[in-house]
Amino acid sequence: MKRKVILYKEIPEHERQRLEAEFDVTFFNGVNEKNQDAFLAALSQAEGLIGSSADMTPERLDLAPKLKAASTISVGTDQYDLSYLAKRNIPLMHTPGVLDETTADTLFTLIMCTARRAVELSNMVREGKWNKHIGEDLYGTDVHGKTLGIIGMGRIGYAIAKRGYFGFNMKIQYSNRSRKLDAEQDLNATYMDMEELLKTSDFICVMTPLTAETERLIGAKEFAMMKKDAIFINGSRGKVIDEAALIDALSNGTIRAAGLDVFEVEPLPGDSPLCKLDNAVLFPHIGSATSETRLAMISCAIDNLINALNGDISKNCANKHLINKNG
Ligand code: DGY
Repeated sequence: MKRKVILYKEIPEHERQRLEAEFDVTFFNGVNEKNQDAFLAALSQAEGLIGSSADMTPERLDLAPKLKAASTISVGTDQYDLSYLAKRNIPLMHTPGVLDETTADTLFTLIMCTARRAVELSNMVREGKWNKHIGEDLYGTDVHGKTLGIIGMGRIGYAIAKRGYFGFNMKIQYSNRSRKLDAEQDLNATYMDMEELLKTSDFICVMTPLTAETERLIGAKEFAMMKKDAIFINGSRGKVIDEAALIDALSNGTIRAAGLDVFEVEPLPGDSPLCKLDNAVLFPHIGSATSETRLAMISCAIDNLINALNGDISKNCANKHLINKNG
């Protein structure tokens, strides 16, 4: 008999067939109030879970006594509680690697758009307000040759820094839990504490995962440390920053501009003060959202689930270190 697996995200037909060839799949198009009861009923029988964009809290997963593996179609693992899963010896598989370059492209787009005021000026043209040659009040600022500070030099941080260093002759500096010798050797990156990075960078790009340690890592005190002309970019998770403090910093001219792909609440409510700020460029969490990369993530997540349910968590397991600790 095939093992029961819940798929809680729509995926292309050929990938769904690949999953169905291995497992007895119950499909939910997201988890919401309408399908919550059916979802909970399926959870009680499920040995595997695969999907993204839904919180899988301990309370929810307590209702899945047979669960043996979960596979998130994302690199971020914040929708699961890694320690809780490890205590139950349940591996959480994720998709690092396949999205690094695409996500770095998105983050660099934010850097360019904020620096050159691309969205604001494009809107001006569309609205028929381009009635004279633009003056100093609408000038942007250069990207090339500036200092790029990366907070969280993981794979995506490295890919962003690589673009800055080779493509734009930027000086790279970073803060991270540990030193990254590849970035130091390949990109001449300088390791420093976060405070020094905040004070000396022209562009500050946050790429840390959301954990208890990084929640609200950047708030009013940190924005106040930045250069007045600094551009702040967030591609990690919204809760890594204090969004209200960022809104103040952008409104008061504490910093120059911000480019955001992630928000405290997603989708960002249309009445958020951020939507009124010309110096904020706002993307709807599209870091990895290209056809090629989303497909690669789905394919990777399916492989991960098959491997994990066959007892192989050697690759792409986010809580392996915690499972091993439990012995
Ligand atoms: C990820 O993979 O974590 C991206 O942020 C998409 O959720």
